[in-house]
Amino acid sequence: MALFGRKKTTVGLDIGSGLVKVAVIDHSKKQPELIKVAVVPLLADAIVEGEVMDPGIVAEAIQSALAAADVKGKHVVTAVGGRDVIIKRIQIERVKEQQARELMRWEAEQHVPFDMESVELDFQILDPDDDGVEMSVLLVAAKRELIESKLRVLTDAGLEPGLVDVDAFALHNAFEINYPDAMKGIVALVNIGHDVTNINILDDGVPILTRDITVGTRRFREDLQREQGISADEAQQLLQGYDRSAHLDAVIESRGEEIAVGIERAAAFLASSSRAASTVRAIYTCGGGARIPGLSDALADRLRVSVQQANPLTNLNIRDGALDSLVTDEVASLLMLPIGLAMRQVA
Ligand SMILES: Nc1ncnc2c1ncn2[C@@H]1O[C@H](COP(=O)(O)OP(=O)(O)OP(=O)(O)O)[C@@H](O)[C@H]1O
Ligand SMILES: [Mg+2]
Repeated sequence: MALFGRKKTTVGLDIGSGLVKVAVIDHSKKQPELIKVAVVPLLADAIVEGEVMDPGIVAEAIQSALAAADVKGKHVVTAVGGRDVIIKRIQIERVKEQQARELMRWEAEQHVPFDMESVELDFQILDPDDDGVEMSVLLVAAKRELIESKLRVLTDAGLEPGLVDVDAFALHNAFEINYPDAMKGIVALVNIGHDVTNINILDDGVPILTRDITVGTRRFREDLQREQGISADEAQQLLQGYDRSAHLDAVIESRGEEIAVGIERAAAFLASSSRAASTVRAIYTCGGGARIPGLSDALADRLRVSVQQANPLTNLNIRDGALDSLVTDEVASLLMLPIGLAMRQVA
């Protein structure tokens, strides 16, 4: 053990409304190595749109996911996201870091539509080595309540509250090592989950906008049941299958349109609020919904831009047995966020 060495492993814990996912990454070698993954389903409605409705069930699912991933320690990295988190790139007069810290609360008041008393702020100077009169700063604001409720979930599961990251940053980390090309120009990372689709826009690798829309595999499944008269299990199989069935046409059309509009709106907001060019050059999808057969093609046709289903295992070293009995192709796209969380080296 190196005295001043990095902590060896980081555990990324993604508490989704459909699945609790754990990824464990060993950082002791030159290259990070994925050593274990676990995916545990969560009972319906235990979490609805990010809000924990049944803390006991969620705590149990977290514990069983950690046990399945052989995690013995109590430190995990989690993240918050959704509409109570705001990311904004701003230009301010160039000052030293310490002074920037003092300015940030005032700046946040101008840019963040939350009550400043109930908000946690963080920021990063994006161009510290430039010497222009202005500097570019990435401002992050999260409602304190959101962070506190996340910490409560962890404590309920017997964990020690540690680092709470922001979803958009964790996704960015996973993309950075697997898709270096996604760090160029304006791209959208679209995480299509069970309840929520998370749209993140990167400008030259900087996450500058994050938006959530309430569409996910749950809505697709419910539509299939209602409109096509098929069972929940059958619907789930179609959504997780490899072949596009004609049953999926109507739902891909309608729900795909909602996702496409969400991406368009995010890009339009960007155009109106920043100096950045706003044409999205490429879209990368992840999350369980990214696997819906035909959805990527529909988005590509509709938005006239390339859409790629992203795989967080592309450039990652993977220890034998890390995925255990899981089928890599079936879970890879679900692991983007937990892997991004575990990429964080906790000192
Ligand atoms: N291999 C798989 N195993 C289980 N579910 C899968 C699989 N592939 C796709 N799915 C679908 O993806 C959904 C879960 O996706 P994901 O893990 O991205 O959502 P989540 O993070 O739980 O939800 P949210 O982010 O909206 O809270 C499942 O509900 C299911 O419909
Ligand atoms: Mg999710």
